[in-house]
Amino acid sequence: MRTIAVHGGTPLQGEVSVEGAKNSTLKLMAAALLAPGVTRITNVPDISDVETMGEVLAGLGASMTRHDHSLEIDATELTSHEAPYEMVARMRASISVLGPLVARLGQARVAMPGGCAIGSRKIDMHIRGLEGLGVHVETGHGFIHASAPHGLKGKELTLDFPSVGATENLLMAAVLAEGTTVIENAAREPEIQDLAALLVAMGAQIEGAGSPVITITGVSELHPVEHRVVGDRIEAGTFLVAGAITGGAVRVRGFDPRDMDIVLTKLEQAGCRVQLHEDGATVGCAGRPMAVDIQTLPYPGFPTDMQAQFMALMALAEGSCVITENVFENRFMFADELTRMGADVRIESHHALIKGVAQLSGAPVRSPDLRGGAALVLAGLVADGDTLISDIHHIERGYERFVEKMRALGASIEIRNN
Ligand code: UD1
Repeated sequence: MRTIAVHGGTPLQGEVSVEGAKNSTLKLMAAALLAPGVTRITNVPDISDVETMGEVLAGLGASMTRHDHSLEIDATELTSHEAPYEMVARMRASISVLGPLVARLGQARVAMPGGCAIGSRKIDMHIRGLEGLGVHVETGHGFIHASAPHGLKGKELTLDFPSVGATENLLMAAVLAEGTTVIENAAREPEIQDLAALLVAMGAQIEGAGSPVITITGVSELHPVEHRVVGDRIEAGTFLVAGAITGGAVRVRGFDPRDMDIVLTKLEQAGCRVQLHEDGATVGCAGRPMAVDIQTLPYPGFPTDMQAQFMALMALAEGSCVITENVFENRFMFADELTRMGADVRIESHHALIKGVAQLSGAPVRSPDLRGGAALVLAGLVADGDTLISDIHHIERGYERFVEKMRALGASIEIRNN
């Protein structure tokens, strides 16, 4: 069993660069299916989710080659329209091939993701949206079967909630539809703007990506291009909180600090010093942070993917605060592990009530998911004694060289093969 061992107590200092965004890369890879030929994606993180998406694409007949931090995806010919259950179960983002496949091939068969560790994560908006575009969708035997033998037709669609995944799937389907599609109440995340930038470079006509209303005028074909992935704002936020929680100061390069406006504002309210740079930000914190309330919301609100890391920081705050999770149900699973390290956290439905304590104590803990796992490492960095984190494959799904980068900032941390 591989574990991460952290010996707490060293303030992190120095600079670290983030990779390209995981959540963008996976969708850009799916979008490559839309353009016959070889699409090149650069600034790709070396994480296991990228490998998994490569396997999904290979199963469809698209080959992927990888050199250092770039990928070449050859989607000249697709030989299958099916994403099997073992892939979708391993990585939910596999469902983002649904839109591109039905747009390019006229049909797609994708396994239903089912429940997952951070809540039920439904796909009804993906399905209703595709139906709006004239796709016939049948679900049964654990699969979604989408078919549009005569092509897709543009339509005005309104999402019930600005879902990232539904916005992306519908965007990728609508670029090849006949006529104009309008997606209202669209998600506005920077990763959606990145996807739209790739599609526009491929020849798509898209306006309004990054706003709540996206207008897409369908074109008959797309061509492959080269595209650089936007920097990972969540990886960046994780390292900034690592500096803050240890009473150190970390400069993170490789992301646009405007994409993390609310997180940086909350860190400032917690008493940290925040400096913005063109290519990132520096956050430093001396002494205990002050307690601040947060609530997660779709972008530009506080990202749910930073909620666990922020809770680790608040566990050590002067005073009490409330963290409200509005995006996913059951996303407080790591709080039980944090409590085992001495944190005072009470969960009431989708609120976490946190009374700051002066010190956490190192303990063996289990990483429940990607961001929860990262947050436990942050807690371990400042806890008294040793913290041993198991189930680290969750962390490796989304963070490249996490331990190595932490060590370069001065952390006493290592991977153990027990
Ligand atoms: C993406 C990100 C994830 C991030 C999340 C919110 C990837 C690979 N994952 O996930 O890291 O935490 O955005 O920023 O990019 N919902 C429905 N019906 C639907 C679709 C969604 O009810 O058809 C609900 C979900 O159950 C959830 C909420 O909407 O409660 C948000 O989901 P969504 O924005 O779609 O997140 P993902 O795309 O799955």
